[in-house]
Amino acid sequence: MVIFKTARELREYLGMQDGKKSTIGFIPTMGALHAGHISLIERAKKQNFLTVCSIFLNPTQFNDVTDFEQYPVSTDNDIELLLKSECDVLFLPSINEIYPEGPQHTKTYDFGYLDTILEGANRPGHFKGVGQVVGRLFEIVNPDTLFLGQKDFQQCMVITRLKEMLGVDQLKIDICPTLREADGLAMSSRNRRLTEPQRTIAAVIYQCLVSIQAKQDSASFAIVKKECFELLNNKGFTTEYVALADARTLELMDEYDRTRPMVTLIAAKIGDIRLIDNLMIN
Ligand code: PAJ
Repeated sequence: MVIFKTARELREYLGMQDGKKSTIGFIPTMGALHAGHISLIERAKKQNFLTVCSIFLNPTQFNDVTDFEQYPVSTDNDIELLLKSECDVLFLPSINEIYPEGPQHTKTYDFGYLDTILEGANRPGHFKGVGQVVGRLFEIVNPDTLFLGQKDFQQCMVITRLKEMLGVDQLKIDICPTLREADGLAMSSRNRRLTEPQRTIAAVIYQCLVSIQAKQDSASFAIVKKECFELLNNKGFTTEYVALADARTLELMDEYDRTRPMVTLIAAKIGDIRLIDNLMIN
């Protein structure tokens, strides 16, 4: 694996590649890598891409300073995992490489409706920061395919919108399944911060998603949603949302409607650790 810290060197290297592995599969991350991230690398490798992973803890997408400061960093371990997965290239830029003129002078994008609901409503400015960093990474890496995790469902939609806004029609976006722990908890870098008792109850989020799926023929969503709020809050969570939405548009739905593809999404905090998850339910 080759590691680059500057955009210029990475561009030069990518420009020199040719042959069958000349198509670039790109996996942007914020580090603290786990098996979920590695599954994206493996998917890119299987498709015979030159696999480029980036690790950049992007400050502009954190609406909460404490969340940013406490975000786990484990670069040495990340490099080990990437070596084991035979990732070809790691881009490990400093903040100046990503924002040479400062974040305030780096282009941002307006995601309209998508930025007004769920994560957008609960984390003001978050998607502005995601759009900004991913836009900049596109510029540097110029990938053929971008590998994203369904774990961040709304982020996948925002980045798909970004692709449209940038007019990069040739870019493919491959949305990969969420990797889970044995009890259903979605793997996440933030899980590392959970204490043992918190870790034990964290799986309740997934149990709620499954119950929303299971009850779609027998109960009203309003009732199931109330049950989920109660269950989560009784277990010690502060629940931000339990939502049902059209999986194509993220239009929020009050009731189950089997004529539309549906996704259910939850965000809940345990202590100061914010967890999100989602499940396609039909
Ligand atoms: P990060 O949280 O590090 O996630 C990097 C990628 O890994 C995202 O596409 C995310 O959806 C995916 N991922 C996370 N957990 C996963 C799991 N359990 N199973 C499968 N895939 C999973 O998302 C970000 O970083 C940032 O917002 C980023 C896009 C890099 C911009 O800064």
